Amino acid sequence: MKTVVSGIRPTGKLHLGNYFGAVLSFLEMQENYQSYFFIADIHSLTTHPTPENLHGNVKQVLAEYLAMGLDPDKCTLFVQSDVPQISELYTYMNMNAYLGELERSASFKDKVKNQRNNVNAGLLTYPVLMAVDILIHKADFVPVGKDQEQHLEMTRTYAKRFNNMYGSECFPLPDAYSQTGKLVKVPGLTNQGKMSKSGGEGDAIFFDDEDNLTHKKIMRAVTDSGPEKPNQEKPEAIQNLFDIMKLVSDDSTVKHFDDLYNACEIRYGDFKKQLSADVLKFVTPIRERIREIKSDDKYLASVAHTGAEKARESAEKTLKEVREIIGFRRFY
Ligand code: ADP
Ligand code: TRP
Repeated sequence: MKTVVSGIRPTGKLHLGNYFGAVLSFLEMQENYQSYFFIADIHSLTTHPTPENLHGNVKQVLAEYLAMGLDPDKCTLFVQSDVPQISELYTYMNMNAYLGELERSASFKDKVKNQRNNVNAGLLTYPVLMAVDILIHKADFVPVGKDQEQHLEMTRTYAKRFNNMYGSECFPLPDAYSQTGKLVKVPGLTNQGKMSKSGGEGDAIFFDDEDNLTHKKIMRAVTDSGPEKPNQEKPEAIQNLFDIMKLVSDDSTVKHFDDLYNACEIRYGDFKKQLSADVLKFVTPIRERIREIKSDDKYLASVAHTGAEKARESAEKTLKEVREIIGFRRFY
């Protein structure tokens, strides 16, 4: 069976974009692959070094993953820092990464610009740690968004370099996973770009927000004065709302409002009310489960514990092989 690995940094609550862009494909993959999904808490130290909410953020994402349907009996769900083998392999793999290529990484250049006062070495070697996350389970596929493609390319470079250097075939070269090419981009409510937690106030629809806040965000989404000609193309802000509706509403509902738009009879107030009702119908049961799971510390502990053990076992197997290949030998 092929293996997949994917991680998500615990930097806050999950939104509709995360669900349709990432978690939904995890749900499919756990049925057909040996799957490792993890919360990248070590990675989050490169930008969010706040001990007060580190654990809370990890707990939030773990509860959200479970509430959305990740099944610990079907996949290995774990917290990165629970697997010390990752940090050990990271130390070794750093010797295979060259300064020049790390400095050329787009995400590093971006961080140098945006967090000038905290350009730490962890940021520079972020792609090495990510490569290790993937290689330590000998993944064949990695489901990632476009922004992570360069990191995946670097992962292949390190894997190849390691294999060549030691004349081994230790690491398979992982490919990006995309479900038959249909990469989803969920638009935001206020931004022209993708829905994002950093997209500003009112942009993202979070699963763990209260109903009235979500309703308010949707009702406040900017529209225009309405179509003037039948069948005219929709401006981006309107198209974005339709795109969100397509994800959460029945086809007949979308068609109903599309027909009204094309006939220049749409009333945006009604349209947004319907969108809000359908978003809430989708989000509310998941939010209730998130809250139930978050209050069940025993369940979370058992999931994290089982996941850690399974992940450590797989990681230790690779690490043992790597230590041998590198030439470490114990005297005792
Ligand atoms: P954010 O942009 O809110 O910071 P992240 O960068 O943490 O989200 O993304 C976590 C995962 O969710 C990634 O796999 C990313 O590709 C996916 N994702 C985030 N936003 C969207 C979106 N609007 N549409 C599709 N996928 C998304
Ligand atoms: N860098 C990824 C992101 O920012 C998160 C991540 C860390 C990851 N390690 C990974 C994703 C391994 C896939 C595989 O979204």
